[in-house]
Amino acid sequence: MKRLEGKVALVTGSSSGIGQAIAIRLASEGAQVVINYRSSPEGAEDTLEKVKATGGACHMAGCPNAGVSVQADVSVLEDVRELIGEGIERFGKLDILVNNAGLEIHAPFWEVTEKDYDKVMDVNLKGAFFAAQSMARHLMETKRSGRIINISSVHEELPFPNFTAYCASKGGMKMMTRNLAVELAPYDITVNNVAPGAIKTPINDDLTNNPDQLNALLQNIPLGRLGKTDDVSGLVAFLASEEASYITGSTFVVDGGLTWNYQEQ
Ligand code: BGC
Repeated sequence: MKRLEGKVALVTGSSSGIGQAIAIRLASEGAQVVINYRSSPEGAEDTLEKVKATGGACHMAGCPNAGVSVQADVSVLEDVRELIGEGIERFGKLDILVNNAGLEIHAPFWEVTEKDYDKVMDVNLKGAFFAAQSMARHLMETKRSGRIINISSVHEELPFPNFTAYCASKGGMKMMTRNLAVELAPYDITVNNVAPGAIKTPINDDLTNNPDQLNALLQNIPLGRLGKTDDVSGLVAFLASEEASYITGSTFVVDGGLTWNYQEQ
């Protein structure tokens, strides 16, 4: 029996990058997956094809029930509620929520606009907050245990100049996780963070396309390479499984050693 057989997982922002890898990995372990996208139906379609190709939750030819893709902007509360509702309607329940949707906007602190600040906070923190709330209500109403896994960042701890709103959103996510772990524990709902470092995805295209910046970053990573999305997805699958039932309120860093790297040359 596959580790996540019989489970239904929702992964926000799963039309590309880390979210896409997580959706595919959870599917390969047997979960039915609700794929979410905001602006890229093609990306979500690609994820869905790959989810089906894993054969993970295929009970019929063509895998009609392995996954579904739903458009929603997680920065809009109504969209978040509809997204959770559609997942439940489609598969009868949700067991696992992965709050992955996120963005960052590069700007020196003194130039950050209100619009950009709101955009970063609304997607990264408010979206995750209210998705977790809808998920918790659903699990409590149906009296079932569940998993909430937030894709945070090493920047829930580490400063990242020119990305102050991003850091604030991830720092907020860290405290949200700790709070929810305590508040939802009586309902057997676990809440954890995964904190990736420099993983090669569209979010850091600017950096990876600039050889000087890329080399400077690689100097700071003890393992000497950027992370792959699958370096993150395996950990998420573990946290989503029964094996992780006693783990809550924790952050797991996946960063090739970046966070605690200190050397004197
Ligand atoms: C950011 C990337 C950055 C990485 C390491 C991530 O959270 O999204 O842009 O390269 O952290 O600093």
